[in-house]
Amino acid sequence: MSPARALDGRVALVTGASRGIGRAIAEALAQAGARVALVARGAEALAATARHIGDAATAFSADLAVPADVAALADAVSAHYGDAPDLVIANAGLFHVAPARELDPAAFTATVQVNLIAPFLLARAFLPRLTTRGHGHLVTIGSIADRAIFAENAAYVLAPEAVADAVMWVATRPAAVNVDELRLTRS
Ligand SMILES: NC(=O)c1ccc[n+]([C@@H]2O[C@H](COP(=O)([O-])OP(=O)(O)OC[C@H]3O[C@@H](n4cnc5c(N)ncnc54)[C@H](OP(=O)(O)O)[C@@H]3O)[C@@H](O)[C@H]2O)c1
Repeated sequence: MSPARALDGRVALVTGASRGIGRAIAEALAQAGARVALVARGAEALAATARHIGDAATAFSADLAVPADVAALADAVSAHYGDAPDLVIANAGLFHVAPARELDPAAFTATVQVNLIAPFLLARAFLPRLTTRGHGHLVTIGSIADRAIFAENAAYVLAPEAVADAVMWVATRPAAVNVDELRLTRS
């Protein structure tokens, strides 16, 4: 018999799980015993990641820039697992490299929507469920860009900084729920 793993019986939702850091997080959580809800827009890449992870993974296609999609996602995931996830990891992010004078306003808007507003929408959708249940973790994936200004990266700098501030604010509210930010550096 295999030894118990730390997250046996737990459910984790990971946004931006179809590739990159989100996919690696989802794999690690599944290896630790969690069932994982994978979220991204591209259904094909998401399905490929779910197949790669195996039975522990379920794909939920959603556009986190659309508030109605986030609300529907929270309902669908909670219905699928019979409760809200134990861990909600807001990892999905856009990264447009351009100084302000060259940046397409649509790219700026999209970055703020996915990197900043989506974590807020996820917290808004899941916090009441986690608080009522009495436990849970919300984790945002930040960046060293929330502590430094990169002039060539005008779209990106605002969102991580604001997310870091928002996490600190949310973290002071619901006693039963842990709210954390992991701050990454691009390499
Ligand atoms: N890579 C780095 O060096 C680095 C450094 C510091 C911080 N970070 C942060 O770490 C996180 C992950 O970065 P990464 O490099 O792994 O990103 P990535 O490889 O570009 O992957 C982004 C993920 O987010 C999903 N996504 C994008 N827009 C979405 C939307 N509107 N709705 C739902 N899903 C969406 C993408 O799938 P679809 O396109 O199919 O939706 C994909 O799964 C980001 O928050 C980033 O800011 C990364």
